[in-house]
Amino acid sequence: MDVAALFSKDAEAFQPSAIRALAPLLNDSSVISFAAGVPNPETFPAEALREAADRVLRDLPKRALQYDVTRGYLPLRERVAARGAALGLAATGGETLLTTGSQQALDLAARVLFDPGDVVLVEVPTYVGALVTFAARRARPVGIVRTAEGIDLAHLRATVSRLRGEGERVKALYVIPNFQNPSGLAMTRAAKDALAEAVAELDLLLLEDDPYGELSFGNPESFDRTPVAVRQPGRTVYLGSFSKTLAAGFRVGWMHGPESFLSRAELAQQAVALCPSTFTASVLESYLAHNDYDAHLESLRGFYRTRKNVLLAALGEHFPKAIAYSDPAGGLFTWASLPAGMNAAALLPRCVAETKTAYVPGASFVVEGDGTPFFRMTYAKETAELLAEGARRLGAFFAREMESR
Ligand SMILES: Cc1ncc(COP(=O)(O)O)c(C=O)c1O
Repeated sequence: MDVAALFSKDAEAFQPSAIRALAPLLNDSSVISFAAGVPNPETFPAEALREAADRVLRDLPKRALQYDVTRGYLPLRERVAARGAALGLAATGGETLLTTGSQQALDLAARVLFDPGDVVLVEVPTYVGALVTFAARRARPVGIVRTAEGIDLAHLRATVSRLRGEGERVKALYVIPNFQNPSGLAMTRAAKDALAEAVAELDLLLLEDDPYGELSFGNPESFDRTPVAVRQPGRTVYLGSFSKTLAAGFRVGWMHGPESFLSRAELAQQAVALCPSTFTASVLESYLAHNDYDAHLESLRGFYRTRKNVLLAALGEHFPKAIAYSDPAGGLFTWASLPAGMNAAALLPRCVAETKTAYVPGASFVVEGDGTPFFRMTYAKETAELLAEGARRLGAFFAREMESR
């Protein structure tokens, strides 16, 4: 049977994540990887999570191993909401929807919002996984310039007005305000204030994705932790995740938003999964009840801050001056650009073969303009020694390439 002839239009629109497609190249353990977009497994509090799993299976197996309501395990929703309240978010546990990672929250939001052809505005660059999700709904991503401070609002206003003038349905703006994947940049307080005003003026829904907000390296005053959702609760869908802070494999994320939106996302969740995992949610809840999560976050920030400093110092020493890169104040990534005309994707196979180092080419993060010179590096995976050694090898490789042009 020609099974492919049966595929829906949505299925035909599914795209593989360009990063996941690199896995065979990057999974070679002899390669120093600046590519992996994952938290360092040493940071997972495995022992405390084991104790939490033991407690859950001993004390509440009948609940933890059962289906739950569609919004998920209420005690965890209440803890998530209480942490959100400390940031100024108004959501209660009832107004929190647990999801299978924030990736599923993105998918549910996209299901609620987009018909084929609808425009979703995204930052340039933006998170590839969100583009994959929007493509699955056949929504059309249109890029808005992201500066070091925030969204280029003049570009946002001009783009919305042009697209609406052409009769396009421009529904939402997707942003990662804090320590963005891939750029590592964080929006300033003033930029968040101005963005909140602009989305109201332009009547846009804001999809605020915040998996890295807890990973700030600086002192708390130097970074505005208040979500844009606090400024515009009626038009913001806020997504959070435990993936980068506790355990990515638990696949626990969440969504806050206007109740009318959440109840639609809840119906989408019913269709997709009945409910999120009760077991992982109850283990996380027990972990949060018995451990000092804030102390864990503090040590996590120190862990990544040290590695970021090592990598940036090594890049300063070994990279040709013509390569620019961001100095992130939190999160897991720095975003670099080769001189115009150089193509990071085209160089990668030879780079891996010759230097045993790897990065992620930037083009798939960039929906508008030429993304080929860009690449993303993470300091999350390797030890300080390997970060320095990898930067030395990569710097020498790029220097040779630049000389031979
Ligand atoms: C910006 C952003 N959003 C969402 C996700 C999805 O994370 P998870 O589904 O593990 O919460 C990621 C993962 O890398 C990300 O970088």
